[in-house]
Amino acid sequence: MTASPEIQNRIQKLRDKLEHANYRYHVLDDPALTDIEFDRCLKELSQLEADYPGMQSPDSPTNKVGGAVAKEFASIEHMQAMLSLDNVFSADDLSSFVDRVRSRIEDDPSLEGKLAELDFVAEPKLDGVAVNILYRDGIFECAATRGDGSSGEDISQNVKTIGAVPLKLKGKLKGKLKDKSGPIPEFIEVRGEVFISHAGFAMLNAMQISQGEKPFVNPRNSAAGSLRQLDSSITAARPLDIYFYGVGAHSDDFNFESHEELLNRFQDFGLRVSPLVKRVTGLSGLLKYYEILMKQRPNLEYDIDGVVYKINSLSQQRSLGYVARAPRWAIAHKFPAQEERTQVLDIDVQVGRTGAITPVARLEPVFVGGVTVSNVTLHNRDEIERLGVRVGDQVIVRRAGDVIPQIVKVVVREPETESKSYEFPKSCPDCDSPLHFDDELVVVRCTGGLVCSAQQKERIKHFASRRAMDIEGLGDKVVEQLLAANKVTDVADLFDLKVEQLEGLERFAEKSATNLINSIADSRETSFARFLYALGIMHVGEVTARQLAVEFSSITDVQIASLERLTAIDDVGPVVAQSICEFFAVAANIDVITRLEKAGIHWPAVERSADNSSPNSDFMDEVVVVTGALSSMTRSEAQHRLRELGAKVTGSVSSNTTRVIVGDAPGSKARKAEALGIQILSETEFLEWIDSKKG
Ligand code: IVH
Repeated sequence: MTASPEIQNRIQKLRDKLEHANYRYHVLDDPALTDIEFDRCLKELSQLEADYPGMQSPDSPTNKVGGAVAKEFASIEHMQAMLSLDNVFSADDLSSFVDRVRSRIEDDPSLEGKLAELDFVAEPKLDGVAVNILYRDGIFECAATRGDGSSGEDISQNVKTIGAVPLKLKGKLKGKLKDKSGPIPEFIEVRGEVFISHAGFAMLNAMQISQGEKPFVNPRNSAAGSLRQLDSSITAARPLDIYFYGVGAHSDDFNFESHEELLNRFQDFGLRVSPLVKRVTGLSGLLKYYEILMKQRPNLEYDIDGVVYKINSLSQQRSLGYVARAPRWAIAHKFPAQEERTQVLDIDVQVGRTGAITPVARLEPVFVGGVTVSNVTLHNRDEIERLGVRVGDQVIVRRAGDVIPQIVKVVVREPETESKSYEFPKSCPDCDSPLHFDDELVVVRCTGGLVCSAQQKERIKHFASRRAMDIEGLGDKVVEQLLAANKVTDVADLFDLKVEQLEGLERFAEKSATNLINSIADSRETSFARFLYALGIMHVGEVTARQLAVEFSSITDVQIASLERLTAIDDVGPVVAQSICEFFAVAANIDVITRLEKAGIHWPAVERSADNSSPNSDFMDEVVVVTGALSSMTRSEAQHRLRELGAKVTGSVSSNTTRVIVGDAPGSKARKAEALGIQILSETEFLEWIDSKKG
């Protein structure tokens, strides 16, 4: 049956509509159609193409749903070889690269001679799978893996199913050109990295597990596995994504002067380019970009393993040329690995200041995520069971950004450790008191209270810490010494210490002893909020302490407050209120507080104006969004603190937003902020920021 002009028209309309919807959804991240409407149009188009086979076309959006099943992957020769990149791991090596490039360019008589600074384009190095896609007259012709660089596997059917891969480039063909943006070339090989986001990876693995399949190890493997499916409808169901970053062979009608211009042309064609790409100048520009991206790395929705710097000017690129299999005009600056393998030397437990018992794995020290890690928390008994970790095991340790290091999984178990499964202690390793197992909260606590010296040590460390009484010089080691030498048993004893008592201790001379005694004395002038926080009442963090300080005028008022009175306070729930009441019901606690008051601890009567968190003019112009989970406080605590400081806190990112605080597992807000170029702060940067403004 031949299609009537009306049918032809309808088919074209549907194709245009679906193509535009794909572009809006996958490239602009701004959907134009609802899912239902999209599906309805796609169905109608499929039916029309089935009814009128003569109307089928390789660039029809119906080709994106998969279905073609291959027996094996044929080989495709790239028109221009796909090269790899040389790596550097340090600023020094990067500096040598810049010097080398510079002197080569300066020596080239055809170029301008002496250079002010070199212009680069810096891009994230995506950790996925490289693909080469050939478009002829703007129509997707084929796609291949990198393979050995000269030829790769034909994965056209699979790549076609990727939402962000257009089957037809946007723009005008030669001859039909009206605007000045340049025509679609006769042919062009475009290169990009196919990847799967963290959210997509989690979803995919949940699906794998529910279908009884093995989960993928990491997002890159899952992307590679998805691209190598013989049945393209499987690939179509995988959450594959792509960013384009380079060009291979192209017809003479495609011209560009710089890498930046190339990427702009890509965007005109409807090819997705990372929003993090940036033009930078000179070594300092490269290093600055690297630092910024490394900080953003844990908040990104996909894995990157470094930065790629490319010389921007095409004439400079040509002059530099290639060496072996890599261009001289580009380099990859790798981030420290976020995962490393090491051995568990021991598993023991730590006792916190409230008696919480936390199992900890002692590791053969390993350099991961930029620091040396020798201890990792195992959180609780469930976690040990989940990981199945035993002393002697080889494990993968992960440290991403500021996130605390974790054991990801056990990789090798030596036969001799087979029998040594970890036994959780029944009593406190410090004071031998029985442990209390709370099934619901998964928290195990030592019941030793004041007799437990491990709890005592943690309480004193907390009391002295920077955000509590801020006693300079009273670090972990000193607290341990003071306790071991019986110089103190609780926090009130600190204020009775004499210089002579310290002088006998290791690493203490007269001067250091005097300094410590002075800083203990100085700490007596504090704020009510800090004091309440320093007491270390279970569940009373800094924000709750601050709320209590605003609500009550003295410590006695807090002491006599009823449960009802306490729960009436914003954000104080029954658990926190109960814990406050229990604390003040213990005579020994009241005794410590009385002795502290006697020692001269005091604070100004009007808390709000004296406290560090009083509105600060630096914050008045700030419009802040907090997204994702923070580890040192809840999101509402962070918002509360920002408001106290005078910032405006809003729920959604807009062009008025000045900063976005991004915790773990952030969602679309972080993405939007990134796209709008709004300053993004990690949790650590956020804490540093509010700290830096303290009076
Ligand atoms: S440019 C000749 N840019 O890294 C230039 N590569 O180690 C070759 N990659 O095979 C590549 N992100 O798979 C380039 N922004 C980026 C990249 C990138 C990831 C991958 C790509 C390449 C490998 C080289």
